[in-house]
Amino acid sequence: MAEESRNQDAKPCAPQVDIDYQELDDLIFQRSGGDKENLIMILQAISKRYNYLPLPALRYLSAKLGVSMSGIYEIVTFYSMFCLEPRGRNIISVCLGTACHVRGAERIKQSVEDYLGIKAGETTADFKFTLETVRCIGCCSLGPVVVIDEKYHGGMTSDKMLNTLKEMAN
Ligand code: FES
Repeated sequence: MAEESRNQDAKPCAPQVDIDYQELDDLIFQRSGGDKENLIMILQAISKRYNYLPLPALRYLSAKLGVSMSGIYEIVTFYSMFCLEPRGRNIISVCLGTACHVRGAERIKQSVEDYLGIKAGETTADFKFTLETVRCIGCCSLGPVVVIDEKYHGGMTSDKMLNTLKEMAN
């Protein structure tokens, strides 16, 4: 019983990330010449590969480029596009900017939350989905807009969103 109550608040464990250091070398050197001036570009490439910035990858990057970890953290924490926490394999971003909001974006967000059982900013326990919200992504005329894994979906509705999620879940 004590064991059960101790585990009630336990958060899902993030899946272990296996860093392929050969691949990481490619990200660091082939695309940017391993130049510390291109640090942001390199961080973007690592983030794109893992959907977040794994600590072992940052330590490796620090050693390879000769940039301190505090220097890397300074950049990572400055730009909102970078995330240090593991995120799901699929990133769903619902735009809640004004134009999308008046066209029902809040309802779409709610339907995603209900379907996945998470709130905006959270990741499902199986690390399949992360739900995020954004404020205007510059294509208001297509609103409401949802970005799923970097692909823009305009004219979104709750029904379309749920169908898309069901397809992705299979
Ligand atoms: S308000 Fe959603 S794209 Fe501009």
